Amino acid sequence: MAEFLKDKRILLIVSGGIAAYKSLELVRLLTKSSATVRAILTSAGSEFVTPLSLGSLTGDRVYTDLFDLTDEAEMGHIELSRDADLLVVAPATADLMAKMANGLCNDLASTALLATDKPVLIAPAMNVRMWEHTATRRNLAQLSGDGIHIIGPNEGDMACGEFGFGRMAEPAEILTAIEALLGPGGGPLKGRKALVTSGPTREAIDPVRYLANRSSGKQGHAIAAALARLGADVTLVSGPVAIPDPFGAKTIHVESAKEMLAACQELSPVDIAVCVAAVADWGIADLAGQKIKKGKSSTTPMLKLVENPDILATLSNKSGNRPALVIGFAAETENVIEHAREKLARKKCDWIIANDVSLPDGGKRSGVMGSDHNRVHIVSGDGVDSWPEMTKAEVAAGLAARIAEQFNTQDSEQ
Ligand code: CTP
Repeated sequence: MAEFLKDKRILLIVSGGIAAYKSLELVRLLTKSSATVRAILTSAGSEFVTPLSLGSLTGDRVYTDLFDLTDEAEMGHIELSRDADLLVVAPATADLMAKMANGLCNDLASTALLATDKPVLIAPAMNVRMWEHTATRRNLAQLSGDGIHIIGPNEGDMACGEFGFGRMAEPAEILTAIEALLGPGGGPLKGRKALVTSGPTREAIDPVRYLANRSSGKQGHAIAAALARLGADVTLVSGPVAIPDPFGAKTIHVESAKEMLAACQELSPVDIAVCVAAVADWGIADLAGQKIKKGKSSTTPMLKLVENPDILATLSNKSGNRPALVIGFAAETENVIEHAREKLARKKCDWIIANDVSLPDGGKRSGVMGSDHNRVHIVSGDGVDSWPEMTKAEVAAGLAARIAEQFNTQDSEQ
């Protein structure tokens, strides 16, 4: 793992929610990235994880009390927050967010948060109804206006048995956000403009129905974050997804293939274009202005499709200001390399990242859309480079490093 966080000091505040157990994994990832972690555990937080488990992972004592004389003698609450490069609240409960939004400070966590002059990142986690409550929305808007960085929450099944937004962002996602906030400023891609497309597109049938696909956006979003970490000025053009905007990149939200193409063209010129989106190949020929009703005619309605513009091919074939490096993805279910080669030639891009999206066999974790893993082959004019199965975050980091290498080589040849 890259030591992006070497010599960085994180003050992690763990408040009371079932997601607190995931903060232990976050500490493990942070220390693996060479960060120094100090932890404050709120009294509600200690109902979910113990000071002993948290302290074993940080390798330090865990701070719990505002009026602990030993704490104040060794390191006061002001010092505790000032000593850090970044404060991370994970999980951030609705209660702690409400305190932060209003400047309340009646325990060590809220006092450290009010006393700090350092950046603060919060990873909210709560029941979906609490997340959607007007009071939480108001607090969130206040915190965002105050310059607090927010990651997540994600959509999914909740511990309370409900489904919706409220699950804390995954530890790896929080780590990526921390790296983006604290990572090396410059980076090998500094000064390069990058465009990444991600997620599915939605093609409207009528005002309430649409055609779409299963793309989760995980790989595209991870690539946008990885390029930003290497210093690129990244804009992500994303179709509708259930994951948060990546850290460090500007995100433009679109629905249809046509909107995605228009957003990409508006960003021109760029140095790097990475088309990861699963763009719908077809749109609806005659978009119904009103909801199509059942029983209006004796036959089942027929949908007439028209081919959508190919964004990857359009960017690759740009005359004049074509990006120096255009990369496409190929999701295939058979003859992966052969189809990728054909796509490389047909769309005239520089690399195709091919992956097998057939159903997993033999316990493979990669393969299905929406999985956290991927097994890719980089197909270019230079041949095929096959990578072992990795997480999508690792694929993204590897690809960003390879892109940086390509520009480095180009620069040294000039
Ligand atoms: N792509 C695009 N615009 C489209 C269709 C695809 O930009 N209208 C891009 C995708 O983002 C991806 C690459 O093209 O980078 C490959 O997409 P894919 O759907 O696999 O290729 P197709 O050309 O549609 O070929 P097929 O569906 O026959 O495999």
